[in-house]
Amino acid sequence: MTASQPPSGPRGSARTRVAVVFGGTSSEHSISCLTAAGVVGALDHERYEVIGIGITRSGRWVAMESEAIADLQVLGGQLPELSEDAAEAVLVRVAAGSELAVRHQAAFAQRTPVDVAIAVLHGPFGEDGTIQGLFEMMGTRYVGAGVLASAVGMDKHFMKLVLAASGLPVGPFVVISPADWARDPVAALDAASALPFPVFVKPARGGSSLGISKVDEPQDLEAAVRAAQAYDPKVIIEQGFVGARELECGVLAALDGGPPQASELAEIRVQTESGFYDFDAKYLPEEQVRLDVPADVDPELAVQVQKLAVRTFEAIGCEGLARVDVFVTPEERVVVNEINTMPGFTPHSMFPRMWAASGVPYPELLDRLISLALQRPVGLR
Ligand SMILES: Nc1ncnc2c1ncn2[C@@H]1O[C@H](COP(=O)(O)OP(=O)(O)O)[C@@H](O)[C@H]1O
Ligand SMILES: [Mg+2]
Repeated sequence: MTASQPPSGPRGSARTRVAVVFGGTSSEHSISCLTAAGVVGALDHERYEVIGIGITRSGRWVAMESEAIADLQVLGGQLPELSEDAAEAVLVRVAAGSELAVRHQAAFAQRTPVDVAIAVLHGPFGEDGTIQGLFEMMGTRYVGAGVLASAVGMDKHFMKLVLAASGLPVGPFVVISPADWARDPVAALDAASALPFPVFVKPARGGSSLGISKVDEPQDLEAAVRAAQAYDPKVIIEQGFVGARELECGVLAALDGGPPQASELAEIRVQTESGFYDFDAKYLPEEQVRLDVPADVDPELAVQVQKLAVRTFEAIGCEGLARVDVFVTPEERVVVNEINTMPGFTPHSMFPRMWAASGVPYPELLDRLISLALQRPVGLR
């Protein structure tokens, strides 16, 4: 693949103005800051002008200079966090699309047109269709999945319904909605106990393994449900795949409108105390996890997983990019675990690593995603 040249300066300016939106109110705030630092560090500054938009933990929008974004790193084991003090910023709808207005003292004086936005936000209010809806309302072109695909990809319950209806393999599960729990928690726990154990109890719209527990015995179910409810009032309980291999595949939309492409696979091998790919294994390097990129799998299985990844991408109506994660059972059955419409995207994350192993290095990946976003029309498509 060759580097794709985005049409520079869609508004006649020398460089394409890319709004990098990051941080956010979800529990993955810090991870998003790390991703933003990686993206800003890799964008070719000759061709792109970065417009930094941070969303603080409290939800305020603030203007961020590129240099300040690049400084968001893990320091002394501490994950980065946005300061609440920076200058307030808002997106404004104008005839040609949108502009970012930054407040100076009492007035929103400085305005910068935005050519394209990339929201490197994970979790609810970022990866779930909400910010995509805001971009739609503002006439802003943006990278990645639209409103519906983002929402479906985020919600592990609706994701499974859509995939199952499309004839794609997903595991057995039970959902406990906030209404179910309020009406009859005992009945809700009984329904979940009917699944074979171990089970995985998860916030339905979570990420980074936060709030997830592996539960071996029915008597531990309630505590796990309450732990998941701390992240999301809606909880999903899934049958655990014991002894399964965990594989991941990157999917990218094609610039020429052809079918989406699948990357080389990655395999996650964990020996964590929790027994699964938990938060520490994902972000703290000293944990017991081995990541094989590319995965050592036989070619037939690789093709099967790649095809399934593309079909999953298409089933939810995804755009731009996604990472599809699957389990391969000891009987060699392949089951979709989840699709992430804004996968971890630091230069060291699995999605960029899988594409690097497939011949698309990180800066080129960004070029391609930005070109795809500039190419597509705003509005219904
Ligand atoms: N049904 C399952 N069977 C076996 N392991 C699971 C199951 N569901 C999740 N896991 C383990 O938990 C990890 C996190 O679950 P996942 O659904 O991917 O949540 P997240 O969206 O937070 O990444 C997975 O990477 C895997 O190691
Ligand atoms: Mg996952």
